[in-house]
Amino acid sequence: MKIAVFVSGSGTNLQVLIDQLHRDNTSGIEISVVISDRKKAYALTRAKEAGIPIYVVRVGDFPDRNAFDAAISRIIDEHEVELIVVAGFMKLFQPVFVQKYRNRIINIHPSLLPAFPGAHPVPDTLAYGVKVSGVSVFFVDEGVDAGAIIAQVPVTVSDDDDEESLLARIHVEEHRLYPQVIRWYAAGRLQIVGRKVIVKEA
Ligand code: GAR
Repeated sequence: MKIAVFVSGSGTNLQVLIDQLHRDNTSGIEISVVISDRKKAYALTRAKEAGIPIYVVRVGDFPDRNAFDAAISRIIDEHEVELIVVAGFMKLFQPVFVQKYRNRIINIHPSLLPAFPGAHPVPDTLAYGVKVSGVSVFFVDEGVDAGAIIAQVPVTVSDDDDEESLLARIHVEEHRLYPQVIRWYAAGRLQIVGRKVIVKEA
């Protein structure tokens, strides 16, 4: 299965997908392309080192967001991508794009959705004072971090946590969960029933 990974930053999730899926010849999963909206994203270095084609597509280079999405869509289609994997890409797709790839876009978010959606989930988590945070992987729909949830893992928040310490523990869980969910998808094990995603037995 050919996947595209969308990034904006460091790309620790991308690295795990490279190591555990792309480089494993038995996985049946190939990262065909990595797309970033930021030229300086370290994730691009990781992709280059793995020999994966990269594209930088910047919102400011296009007249509007639909034109930006259309450029991305051309890349996706040229590379015959079957699943779009969002891993720290900090732009929202427009409805036309989401409709075209419905149930073929997944994202990962460092909170237990629907708690703390948006751009600052970890500071928001700490400011609210919840005792449990975590990781959510979900299908992208037209909302912000609002699509059907595929899998979640809790992470306990400690009294002395700061952003860095909490995010470090969340990352450990993200790095376990994301490759797993992509394997489930590739194996045809995800069944979507309304808002519910059922993981079928292997
Ligand atoms: C991850 O923690 C991911 O959950 C988060 O960005 C980080 C990217 O890290 N995504 C969101 O907050 C999406 N709303 P990485 O670049 O090291 O993989």
